[in-house]
Amino acid sequence: MPDAAGRLDELRREAEAAVRSASSTAELEDLRVRYLGRKSELTGVLRGIGELPPEERGPVGQAANAARSAMESALAERIAALDASELDERLAADRIDVTLPGDPPPHPGRLHLITQTRREIEDVFVGLGFSVVEGPEIEFDYYNFTALNFLPDHPARAMQDTFYVSDDVLLRTHTSPLQVRTMEVQPPPVYAIMPGRVYRRDSDATHTPMFNQVEGLAVDEDITLGDLQGVLLEFARAIFGQEREIRLRSSYFPFTEPSVEADVSCFQCGGSGALPDGSRDPLCKGSGWLEILGAGMVDPNVYGFVADNGYDPERVQGFAFGMGIERIAMLRHGVPDLRMFFDNDLRFLEQFP
Ligand code: PHE
Repeated sequence: MPDAAGRLDELRREAEAAVRSASSTAELEDLRVRYLGRKSELTGVLRGIGELPPEERGPVGQAANAARSAMESALAERIAALDASELDERLAADRIDVTLPGDPPPHPGRLHLITQTRREIEDVFVGLGFSVVEGPEIEFDYYNFTALNFLPDHPARAMQDTFYVSDDVLLRTHTSPLQVRTMEVQPPPVYAIMPGRVYRRDSDATHTPMFNQVEGLAVDEDITLGDLQGVLLEFARAIFGQEREIRLRSSYFPFTEPSVEADVSCFQCGGSGALPDGSRDPLCKGSGWLEILGAGMVDPNVYGFVADNGYDPERVQGFAFGMGIERIAMLRHGVPDLRMFFDNDLRFLEQFP
């Protein structure tokens, strides 16, 4: 029937044109309902086939089915194309990468100045080839005093200076017991630093009952006082500035021989002792030097306590040093009172982000 076939042809072209110009999958769904849905003209034609004269049924049915499959494939093609481009658009527009971590809160807290300073000191010595060793704060008298060549009646052993837990157990008064502990477990050579808390019965603007030290120990063949001086110079320059110099003055510790105090040239006045206006530099009290630590060559008597582990004073020599972390931080940042480190006043702590 030419009329019905013509109409179907027309419908198909109309539907194909509409599908081509559709710009969204939602629009395509509307077109599918309009041209292929239950109430569509095409469905009407297909339903009416049974009422047609028998000779028209075949050709009209064929034409209607051909129109339907043409429209269906036009729709399917366009849906696939639009789906892909809509996904691309969404991906471009929704630029949220769920694999990235969230924004950190603006103030996640900070490390305490002592922790910051301790880590900086560690970094310097690790860079020089030292490893970092830690040990107990509750210590035997043996490691804290005896094996460090303190005589039984040395004044540092007195109750008014040291916190005792029992007759032979105490809170370590320095990190030096780790010299012996380290040599007990590690034969020479040893290059180690030992940071940690220490305790003394002492309390004023420059002393707190607990404070922090970093011990250093280097034992090898052919180590001299010159090596100590070179290591301390590197340390002083890394922490206080590349212009710094080091000075050693003679001193006394039971576990080093010779013993020295090390000074660093004052970073505030450049070592002159005077400020630009000619007045006396209050930081170094006009001397041009700041005392930073005690040190010396390890006393042969100390090796006597670790002789079993290869420490023969005829074969190995070494140096040791011990510095206060609070003191380094106070000098560097102009902190006037040691107790400020432990008051936990945010106005102080927040100055060191
Ligand atoms: N332990 C000493 C003190 O606390 C410092 C020191 C360490 C001195 C190592 C010499 C060698 O004062």
